[in-house]
Formats: sequence, structure tokens, C-alpha cells
Amino acid sequence: MNKNFYITTPIYYPSAKPHMGHAYSSIIADFFARIKKIQGSKVFFLTGTDEHGLKIQRAAEKKNMKPKDFCDEISITFRDLSKTLNLSNNDFIRTTEKRHFVSVQNLWNILENKKEIYLSKYSGWYSVSDEAFYSDDEIIDEDGIKKSKSSGSLVEWVEEESYFFKLSNWEKPLLKYYEENPNFIMPESRKNEVVSFVKSGLKDLSVSRKSFSWGIKVPSNPNHVIYVWLDALTNYLSALNYPDTNDKLFKDFWPASVHLIGKDILRFHAVYWPAFLLAANIPLPKRVYGHGWILSGDEKMSKSKGNILDPIEIIKKYGLDPLRYYLIKEVSFGNDGNISKEKLESCINSDLANNYGNLCQRVFAFNEKNLKLEIPSKIKFNDSDLVILNNFDKNYDNLISFIDNQDINSYINFIVQQLFTANKYFNDEEPWKKKGDEERLGTIIYVSLELIRKITILLYPIIPTSALKILNAFEINENEIDFKSIKSNNFLNLGQKIKKINILFKKIEKND
Ligand code: MSP
Repeated sequence: MNKNFYITTPIYYPSAKPHMGHAYSSIIADFFARIKKIQGSKVFFLTGTDEHGLKIQRAAEKKNMKPKDFCDEISITFRDLSKTLNLSNNDFIRTTEKRHFVSVQNLWNILENKKEIYLSKYSGWYSVSDEAFYSDDEIIDEDGIKKSKSSGSLVEWVEEESYFFKLSNWEKPLLKYYEENPNFIMPESRKNEVVSFVKSGLKDLSVSRKSFSWGIKVPSNPNHVIYVWLDALTNYLSALNYPDTNDKLFKDFWPASVHLIGKDILRFHAVYWPAFLLAANIPLPKRVYGHGWILSGDEKMSKSKGNILDPIEIIKKYGLDPLRYYLIKEVSFGNDGNISKEKLESCINSDLANNYGNLCQRVFAFNEKNLKLEIPSKIKFNDSDLVILNNFDKNYDNLISFIDNQDINSYINFIVQQLFTANKYFNDEEPWKKKGDEERLGTIIYVSLELIRKITILLYPIIPTSALKILNAFEINENEIDFKSIKSNNFLNLGQKIKKINILFKKIEKND
């Protein structure tokens, strides 16, 4: 079994400051990177910024800046956001870096040498906002204004000399690939969209522009810059030191395990990208997962709509882990979801402060008072203790399959159930009434601590900072977290000291 795991986020356009949609893609990718790491995989997690193309050139012009200076300024805000979100990324790539130029031009040369690219003329619609070409039937006319049907963004008519990629040749191989690799595109509904798009016929794709210069030049014809999506998609290879396919990083991590993307950029990742790779004879990524959007009201959050929720402000007010938890739990993964302050506050109060935080607090405080922060040394599980503890072992294979199928919803539902069970156990067992029975009292505390440990390991990829506070109290360091250990019912050493914990999540009162 290949234990290496390579996960990518989309590389973000530094045309404006990052927003909640960007934070969402990154947090989900971080969840998978962390969980794979504690499962013992060697992980490479990549994120970065997509800095070429007309969209960026125009955004820079608006500010009277050179595109590179403009990108330098905004790319930093994305890099900072990665830190603010506590991402465990191994690299942050910028498409203006030399390593990326080399990689893109190499891929271009391969495609050109294989006669997959030819020179012709493009005339048709182009959306600068999406950096996408659209055919007539993908356009709507609203009071004389032409827009893309799918994204609603403005399109303009373009007529210029352009290189074309023979996408039409790859229609059948792509359909065959989707059929033979039924999990290549996830979730299922997105796969169906892609398959029907490809079945409706693929036209050759314009892959260069001549009317502006902000991009990577076509090596054989520097009057052209390479289409920004061909440029951008190649970042996934550049970060592994492509074209050096003998490089350790490349050998260890290509093909990518999951390209995590938003549903709006599915066509680029699930049609164009695999077609480029098939044409260049490079192995295809194993999976493309198209998640839904974070909506503000009923609409996608975007700069042009002016309905952006700033992740930094939310984090300042509520903390990072609550935001991570909310986005992972309350947005049904794969579908669109909503975030509002009211919903976030109620989630913090019910799940984090009450269910998880309070459980930890009560058990640790009870232990401190009665056992002086020591893991009990005399214990004997009864049948019902074992049933509760064994839930984790019993569901272990399910959990692994949830993770491998990106079924985050089932994964977190399991955690919530176990939290409920653990709280109920502590309440029903009433350890405060067992003061004369040292063994039973010790056992209840031991079981409760074990449940907290197991649940906390499951929570670690979601709320790493808070989870680490608890794991550290058990003397478990970050690099020692072992997912498998949730199967064990006797992980905690009898008689060992634990550390006092502070309140993890403060309840938000109405007037805060
Ligand atoms: N630069 C391209 C991606 C190139 S990848 C080779 C791009 N950038 S983007 O900044 O516009 O969007 C990046 C990601 O953020 C996309 O996956 C997009 O779906 C996601 N989101 C942008 N707004 C979003 C929401 N409101 N909600 C969730 N994600 C959305 O596209």
C-alpha cells in the first residue's frame, strides 16, 4: 500500500484579499493532511497563489502597480492566512517563481513536440474573472450585457491568434478514464456533471493569449503567453520539482492523492488537466474532489458581489479552532453551506463549550479533586465500560473508509455521537457517589479519560490547537499522535500524572 499522501488546495488568485471561501478550501485540505499524518502516511500538502493572467494584470493596473509588485503584496496576505489558519502545508508555491516557469515551459514543449498544440485563431467569449473561454450556448444576455451562464461573470469578445490544444482528441480517453476510475471525480453528482459535459463534445482549447503579456511565454513564440489555467494547473507538478521526474519529491508524491477544489473550477481540474497529462504521458492524479461553496445568504461569497466574510475578523473574535470546527462540521461536505455569526455562536456553545469542553473540564476537575491529577492505578472494566470503549475499535474500519472517501460528515457524526456517549457515561455513572469504592471510582475516571483521549485524537485534525492542549495534558506530543491508538482501551499508564487544563472554549453569552 502506498503510504504517501499528496494533497493540494487550489492556488488562489491574489487579485484581492483572501475570504472565507479560500479559508474553507485550505482548512479542509489541512484536515486531510493532518489525519493522514497521524495515520502514519508521509504527507505533502501544497497551497499557493496563481499570479498570472489578465485578471491579475487588470487588478494591478487599477492600483497603478506593476503586476509582480501587486502580486508580491497580496500573495503575502495568503501566506499569512496559511499561518493564521494553522495550516500544516509543506510548501507555498507562487506561479511567478522560476521553478514554476521551468516546469510549465517543459510541459508546453512536450505537448508541442507531440503535436498536441497547433497555431490558429480564437474568436469567441472570454471571462476575465473566471479566466475561461465560453461557447455561445454558455452565454446569457441580460439587458444587452453578456454573461457566463454558469458563473454569472461578464464575458468579452476575443479575436486573436492563439495556440490550441487538441482537447477534442481526448474526449474518448477521458470518458474511458472516468469509467475505469469511478472515484476519480468526487462527489458522484459532480462526476455526472463532468461526464455529461465531456459527452456533449469537446472542442479544442485555446491555450495562449497574444494581447497581453503578464504570463509565462510560449518558448517557441514569445509573442504569446501560456493560458493561465495551463500555467496554474502545472503548479501541482512544479512543487515536486518537475520536470526532474527522478527527484525524490516527484517520485514520492506524484500522482497527487487528492486535488481539493471548489465546484466552480471542476472543469479545469477534471477535464483540461487530465487531458493535458494524458497528452504529455504523465500519470493522472488519483482524485479530484469538488466541494461546495460557502454562501453568504443564498449567494456565493465573492469580491464582485461585495458580500465577503473576512476569516481574519471571525478568528479574532471567536478563535481559529471554533471556525475550523464550524466549517468542517456545519457545512455538509460536498454541498454548499452557510456561515453566519448566530450559527457559529450556537455551534461553539453547544458542541465545543458544552459537549467537548465541558466533558474535559468536568473529568479533569473531578480527577484533580479526588485523585490529585493522577490516572487511577486500580481499575476493572465492567461490560458496559467495555461496550463504550470498544466503540472506537468496532468503528475503526468505518472511520478509515470515511477518511479515504472524503466522507467528512460521517467522520464528524461519529465524534459527536461519542461525545454524547462519554458525557452520558460520566453523568449516569455518578462517580461522586462512589467515594467509598476506590476501584469503581478509579475505573469511571479511567474510562472517561480514555474516552477523552480517543475523541481528542479524532478531533485533532479539526481543532489542532485545542486538541493538543488536552493531549499534552496526557503527555502526548504532536509528533506522537497515533490514529491507531484509538483502538486501545489501556493506552493511559496507570498511576501516571496528568496536567491541569484550562477552559478550552468559552461559552458566548447573548451580549458578548
Ligand atoms: N486560481 C484559480 C485556481 C487555480 S488551481 C490550479 C482560482 N482561484 S480563486 O481564488 O478564485 O478560487 C480558489 C478556490 O476558492 C476555488 O476552489 C474556489 O472554489 C474557492 N472559493 C472561492 N469562493 C468560494 C466560496 N464562497 N466558497 C467556497 N469556496 C469558494 O479559482
